[in-house]
Amino acid sequence: NRVLLLNGPNLNLLGERDPEHYSSATLADVERRVTELGKELGVSVTCAQSNHEGVLVEHVHGARGMLGIVLNPGAFAHYSIALRDAVEAVDTPCVEVHISNVHARESFRHTSVTAPVTQGYISGCGITGYELGLRAVLRSTTERFG
Ligand code: DQA
Repeated sequence: NRVLLLNGPNLNLLGERDPEHYSSATLADVERRVTELGKELGVSVTCAQSNHEGVLVEHVHGARGMLGIVLNPGAFAHYSIALRDAVEAVDTPCVEVHISNVHARESFRHTSVTAPVTQGYISGCGITGYELGLRAVLRSTTERFG
């Protein structure tokens, strides 16, 4: 009954980095909140963060057999075909989360190469987006998707 919470590059700096876009909460706060919600929902949340594309790819591979992945790919969302292929290759439902509203920002953030292979996408809900992401990814275990 495991879910992977996976954060990409620069998200280790959450709390000190551009708080206007990314909230003042730290990554540890996010991981604590999602883990606690997981307990309420009866799932165990495994947390990981990396600044390295290949390490993220391997974390996604490691999520085979898990109930879901809540993924903030950071900037890799905008151009990492390798990360996209990893998400596509594993059969684990994935929900993509962006803390900021990427569509209200620079145009290079408007594209996500990973989003088309995810089950759903959350952007602009602050760090609450991670909790929504956990609820959303678990939805696929009880609901059918078209
Ligand atoms: C982000 C948005 C990305 O464009 C940016 O590169 C990030 C954070 C977000 O959570 O809003 O690193 O994924």
